Amino acid sequence: MRVVATIAALQAARRARGAGDTGFVPTMGALHEGHLALVRRARAENSRAWVSIFVNPAQFNDPGDLQRYPRPLEADLEILRAAGTDLVFLPHEQDVYPDGYRYRVAENDLSLKFCGARRPGHFDGVLTVVLKLLLLTRPQRAYFGEKDFQQLRLVDGMVRAFFLDTEIIPCAVMREPDGLAMSSRNRLLTREERARAPAFHRLLARSVAERQSTDAVAADLEQEGFTVEYIEDHDGRRLAAVRLGTVRLIDNVVGAAGRDSAPAPE
Ligand code: PAF
Repeated sequence: MRVVATIAALQAARRARGAGDTGFVPTMGALHEGHLALVRRARAENSRAWVSIFVNPAQFNDPGDLQRYPRPLEADLEILRAAGTDLVFLPHEQDVYPDGYRYRVAENDLSLKFCGARRPGHFDGVLTVVLKLLLLTRPQRAYFGEKDFQQLRLVDGMVRAFFLDTEIIPCAVMREPDGLAMSSRNRLLTREERARAPAFHRLLARSVAERQSTDAVAADLEQEGFTVEYIEDHDGRRLAAVRLGTVRLIDNVVGAAGRDSAPAPE
């Protein structure tokens, strides 16, 4: 596995990579089984799997959240090596944003709703860094988890809007055995919060199965100790964000009422 830290070295690796497809998985590190499922799929469906690890400051609207974000770099590299990753890109902030983030991608509809309404500028930061990473790595396919459903839709829309030659591959939400969606932020939960956290998915899934309103499931979640940021139906899914203590969790389930596209199996 090659570890590349500069833009110039990445561009050289890209020019030298020869025939065959590249599958790319962008990450912010703190890797878990959910990321590994993306890497394994990238490896299986392409000649090579490239991964980036970059905790992108532009997508954090809360400096405390950025500071708390876990960064277990050595463990991440070990995990990626074992998963058969061919190249890891670990750029520095000043190299990703030589312009000081003066140039950025803005989307003016979906990015302002749901998570975007609570985290101003978040999706501009995500789309900008994903565009840069796709331009640098030029993969045939890039793999994104459906846990971040709004992100997935926005990235897919950007790739189409800018005629990029990359196919965005959606990958099913990976869950712990108790149903909690895998997330790098789960490791920030206290033992007591971790024990409560599975109720998030359980109540969300039950609300869809029992055709409960979003208000009713929000009330149930508050009763279980979650602070609800939003629960909304969109694009055949019920999307939600909650807080447990200082940790923000997001999740979504297929099959919400009022769907405007066919639901895909999770
Ligand atoms: O989903 C993430 O981890 C990040 O938003 C991404 C896509 C790596 C961009 O920083």
